[in-house]
Amino acid sequence: MTRSDPHSYFDETQPRTRDWRLRLRVDFDRKVLHGEITLGFAAPAQGVLDLDTKGLTILSAAVAGSAVPIPHELGAEEPILGRRLRLNLPPAAPGVTIAYETSPEAVGLQWLSPEQTEGKRLPFLFSQCQAIHARTLLPCQDCAVARVSYEAEVQVPEGFTAVMGAGPAGDAPAEAGWRVFRFRMPQPIPSYLFALAVGELAGKDLSPRARVWAEPASIDKAAWEFAETDSFIQKAEALFGPYDWDRFDMLVLPPSFPFGGMENPRMTFLTPTLLAGDRSLVDVVAHELAHSWTGNLVTNATAEHFWLNEGFTVWAERRILKAIRGDEAAALAWTLGQKDLDDSLERFRAQPELTLLRTRLAGVDPDDAFSSIPYEKGARFVVAMERSVGEAAFDRFIRDYMARFRFQSITTETFCAFVEEKFPGLLARVRAEDWLHQPGMPADAPRFASPRLQEIAGLAAAWKNGPASSAAQILKLRPAELLLFLQQLPRELSAPDCARLDRELSLTGRGNYEILVQWLCMAASAGHEPVFPRVREVLSSVGRMKYVRPLYQALGKTPAGRKLAREVFAAASPTYHGLTRRVAESVLAEQREEAVPGAR
Ligand code: BES
Ligand code: ZN
Repeated sequence: MTRSDPHSYFDETQPRTRDWRLRLRVDFDRKVLHGEITLGFAAPAQGVLDLDTKGLTILSAAVAGSAVPIPHELGAEEPILGRRLRLNLPPAAPGVTIAYETSPEAVGLQWLSPEQTEGKRLPFLFSQCQAIHARTLLPCQDCAVARVSYEAEVQVPEGFTAVMGAGPAGDAPAEAGWRVFRFRMPQPIPSYLFALAVGELAGKDLSPRARVWAEPASIDKAAWEFAETDSFIQKAEALFGPYDWDRFDMLVLPPSFPFGGMENPRMTFLTPTLLAGDRSLVDVVAHELAHSWTGNLVTNATAEHFWLNEGFTVWAERRILKAIRGDEAAALAWTLGQKDLDDSLERFRAQPELTLLRTRLAGVDPDDAFSSIPYEKGARFVVAMERSVGEAAFDRFIRDYMARFRFQSITTETFCAFVEEKFPGLLARVRAEDWLHQPGMPADAPRFASPRLQEIAGLAAAWKNGPASSAAQILKLRPAELLLFLQQLPRELSAPDCARLDRELSLTGRGNYEILVQWLCMAASAGHEPVFPRVREVLSSVGRMKYVRPLYQALGKTPAGRKLAREVFAAASPTYHGLTRRVAESVLAEQREEAVPGAR
């Protein structure tokens, strides 16, 4: 037995699946998928095959293309991994066909009621498989080293549209009252990039190779917000090499989507909180697009090497940003990222092992290990290498790196061997050991400065004692600048400070969620109760964990805030995504422990 991924029953010595043929029927009444999947092997196989499943009911298993049943057994439920499905293949099996059903509690799916959509007419379904939730949708080798191409048929009630992280392949014949969408994904992907969404959707072309999908009520707004997408693709191709996925389409989800974006190939999923009306939050699009290279082409072998995906992608996102919006905008993004990094280092003060880039996660749920550290520490490590060899040489390196490992899933160790081959001595020079294997940040980590950053820091330092006239200057700041200004204000603001800030800058009414949530967190921490209704609104509708966690944390700072947090959670949690609910629960649990002295 050779298991290389602590989060999968995948066994390297067993047959490898190479492709999937999938049929799904979407049952909105019972909140389950009825599925039939054929896993095709790279070569005819026999013997034991272990698959990952979680919450799946297995109805039958047979040799692909025949009725010969395959003996199979579900193992005991493991809290993180789920249940191993062990099949005993007869000789020369070309593949296996498994009929199954998902559970209404599948973490990889969220079933929304019509009220949770903008149209309020139809329910909505979306998937989120990264890191290890594909196994709640289908039985598979749920690990990044086992790549598959696939074909799928998705049967939905009439009136719904299905989209996938795949190419559309027309309709198939359907029974009355139903519609069957077909998809084909020719490029081999890791299971965590499998993606499906079903709802009332409209699409609008942005360019010959990019289209945005959204609920009909926001499709025009979405098309305007993301109109620059093709120019991002062009910049990214110039930096990282050819775009290998044919199309770059995006789907704007209902607000409960737990992430800012998810790089599902050919169909990036996005939170509607990006629709600020001024294109100020499109760095998330640049990020998900950059994953088309760093992540989707060259993939982390397991969650223990997650920084290879996210650190490189944050670096790549900011290179795109620099090419499009200039040096100042990029420096600003790096500085905003520093705050996320500091917050995460603080959060993991008692778990320094989670602040390494190369992590050890046996027995750790990847969702619990998630933080800004692989993103921002990882990206700074990439910059340390880039600065050491110079931008031009590093640009050539990135293209070589993509070319060498395209459609492969690699470890930190493989990456380091490649760096050593291309730039002998570089790892030692930048002290890669410290970056990868030591907690916290190296003392000589790259810093980012610019004249504009200085000015904004100056405005923030002067605000508290400054004249009201400085407000005029602050109001002229661009959205990312205003965000930085807010972040750089003294941590301990009083409630009267907050009242003045809101009077001068009208923050509670902002539609830019980065600014709004930063402000609400500051004000809630200071116990400035006039913002409570807005906090309640946000926590009742928006599921993006990046916002939900700090908002609940901020409410925890005062007794009135804690009361609001409990109330909102009780009312809203049934509408939360499973991941969001877990995050909110853990923040509330910490607050209870802190409130009861000696409980820990
Ligand atoms: N791949 C991530 C989202 C993710 C990570 C989902 C781990 C599940 C497990 C995506 O690319 C991402 O990083 N999104 C960020 C965007 C930001 C860094 C620009 C987000 O959602 O905030
Ligand atoms: Zn990412």
